[in-house]
Amino acid sequence: MTALRGTLPIPGFSVEKEIIKPVNVSSVPQRSIFRYPGGKTWFVPTFRKWFDSVNARPAILVEPFAGGGIISLTALFDKLVSKVVMVELDEEIAAVWQAIISGNANWLAKRILSFDLTRENVIEEISNKTSSVKEKAFQTILKNRTFHGGILANGSGFLKHGENGKGIKSRWYPETLARRLDDISHLANKIDFRCEDGIKVMKEYASHNNVRYFIDPPYTAGGKKAGNRLYRHCELDHEELFKVCETLKGDFLMTYDNAEEVKALARKHGFQMRLIPMTNTHHATMEELVIGKNLTWLDKLPAAHEPLVNYKDEVLIVKTKISKHSRVRQ
Ligand SMILES: C[S@@+](CC[C@H](N)C(=O)[O-])C[C@H]1O[C@@H](n2cnc3c(N)ncnc32)[C@H](O)[C@@H]1O
Repeated sequence: MTALRGTLPIPGFSVEKEIIKPVNVSSVPQRSIFRYPGGKTWFVPTFRKWFDSVNARPAILVEPFAGGGIISLTALFDKLVSKVVMVELDEEIAAVWQAIISGNANWLAKRILSFDLTRENVIEEISNKTSSVKEKAFQTILKNRTFHGGILANGSGFLKHGENGKGIKSRWYPETLARRLDDISHLANKIDFRCEDGIKVMKEYASHNNVRYFIDPPYTAGGKKAGNRLYRHCELDHEELFKVCETLKGDFLMTYDNAEEVKALARKHGFQMRLIPMTNTHHATMEELVIGKNLTWLDKLPAAHEPLVNYKDEVLIVKTKISKHSRVRQ
C-alpha cells in the first residue's frame, strides 16, 4: 500500500494526512490456480500486516469461505501458520482442493499441459458426466479459466474476446498452472479441506484460542445482488455469521462490501470497521470494509463513514455517540 502525503485545508492548521492507494496486485505472488471472482489477492498485504501486528503466532488459520484460497495459501507459503482449514460449499471448487490434497496435483498438472484448448474440446470435456474427483477438478479448472470472469455460477458463459483478442485462451497458462499445482502439492499435508457450511466449521473452532479466521462471505447482505451472480452458493444468514464471530476466542478479520446493512451489523455486534481501497475488475477504485475485534493496527485507514444526518438531528447523534463510546470498541 503506497502512502502519499497531503495537507488538510484548515486555516491555521497544517495536518499531515496519508492517502492510502489500492494495492497493485501484480506485486503479490499469485499462488492459486483459480482466477476467482471476488478473490482477495489485493488483501494479501493487509493480511500479512495483521500477522505482523502481534507477537504470538496462531497455529491454525480457518477460512470458512475459501473460494480460490489465496489467503490460506499465502498463510502457508509465508509460514504464518502450521495448518489451514479451508471450507467451501461449492462442489466443483471443492473437487479441485480435494484432488490436490489426495495426491492428484501432478495428475492435474499433466492433464493441463497436454490439453489442446479449443472451444470444441472444452465443450466436449466439460459435458462428460463423471464421478471421479480428479476429472471433476480438471473440468472445474477448465471452466474457471475459460468462462467470463472465472464465474462458475449458473448462467455463466465462455470468454468472448478475452485479453488481446485471444478469446477463451486468454487466461489459459498451462506451464504457470502446472507450476502452481506442484508448489501447492508440497504443502498439501498442511491443508484440511472441508466441503461444508463455513459457519458450522467456525462454531467447531470457536472455543480454541490458538486459531485465527479470515472470513470473506458472499456479498449478499441486505439482498445485494452482486454475490448472487458470482457464486452458486450465495445465500447466507449474515446475522448468524456476525453472532458466531462474537463467540470466537481467536481473532478474526472479515471483509465485506461497504453496505449500510453490513455496517449496521458490525455496530450492533460491537466490532470495529475500516475502509480499504481496492481496484475492481473494471479498474475502478472502490472501498471495501474490513471488520474485526480490534483494528488499531489499521489506523492509517479511514473509519467507516457514519450515515449522513440532518443538522437539527446532529446534537442527538453526537450525544448518542458519546454515550456509546464508553462501551463500544469503535
Ligand atoms: C467472496 S467468495 C471467497 C473468495 C476467496 N476469499 C478468494 O480469495 O478466492 C465467497 C465464497 O463462499 C462460498 N460460500 C457461500 N456460502 C458458503 C457457506 N455457507 N459455506 C462455505 N462456503 C460458502 C462461495 O461459493 C464463494 O466461493
